[in-house]
Amino acid sequence: TIVQCDAIQSLRDYLQPLRREGKRIGFVPTMGYLHAGHASLVSRAKQECDVVVLSIFVNPLQFGPNEDFSRYPRDLQRDKEIAAQAGVSVLFTPSVEEMYPQKILTTVSVAQVTEPLCGRSRPGHFDGVATVVSKLFHIVGPDAAYFGEKDAQQLAVIEQMVTDLSMPVTIVPCPIVREQDGLAMSSRNVYLSAEERDQALVLSQSLQKAREAIEIGETSAATIRDGIVRMIEAKPLAVIDYVEVMEYPALKTVETLESGQRICVALAVAFGKTRLLDNLIMRIS
Ligand code: PAJ
Repeated sequence: TIVQCDAIQSLRDYLQPLRREGKRIGFVPTMGYLHAGHASLVSRAKQECDVVVLSIFVNPLQFGPNEDFSRYPRDLQRDKEIAAQAGVSVLFTPSVEEMYPQKILTTVSVAQVTEPLCGRSRPGHFDGVATVVSKLFHIVGPDAAYFGEKDAQQLAVIEQMVTDLSMPVTIVPCPIVREQDGLAMSSRNVYLSAEERDQALVLSQSLQKAREAIEIGETSAATIRDGIVRMIEAKPLAVIDYVEVMEYPALKTVETLESGQRICVALAVAFGKTRLLDNLIMRIS
């Protein structure tokens, strides 16, 4: 059976004795509307931890004024069932008032890795993410926290923050979970019309093509990028925000791929009002 806490204090009171017994606490932060991507983080946490805490909090701090905070999909009843099924022990579901009882004057701001990619189109977004994740780490006190490579830049930001601030938590990156046809799972996929959903397949397909080109020796970032851009531009409903080839996790632009390098081919593309992310992280052989 799953325990649910809305209050920070009740979560702390629940976890404190477990921690004193020496139980390892795993943590999966989410914004809810759970899917198999979130469940995969829980499975990984269950393999490595005695207690798995999953938070559901749609964090207003990480949404821009013209973004989808108010219409972000929410369904707590459904989420509870998926979380229980996946093996979550404790569900933390604070309100905005519980997390932000007063005007927030203290924030966490990570430089450089927050600047390219999504940082350019969503100013302030990653400060909002770093701040809430830092708060959640202080509330939960996890031994390990699980993040998806789906949000590769977010993962790089969290790893930088944890190292910079000596946070006593191990960050565990988890692979992207996809639909049968390749579309990366996302809570925002429910926004897509049938036609948009169909054309959105080009994202994973173009990254797969890029992987194949790299595997047979393509080393020009521009050529890789152009191949992806051409495929996406052939879809009339797609509006490209960015397609970039970056060193990972430093997120510095690369021109020529070098052997041993870890790279991330990252893209953000809008279909109607829905902005989708996908990426490919690989080591160059
Ligand atoms: P959310 O978008 O709900 O994602 C929660 C976690 O699930 C993130 O670590 C994300 O990378 C991971 N995830 C989402 N889709 C995935 C997929 N298809 N495969 C694997 N992992 C996937 O990311 C956030 O929430 C928020 O920014 C948060 C970190 C909770 C801070 O508010």
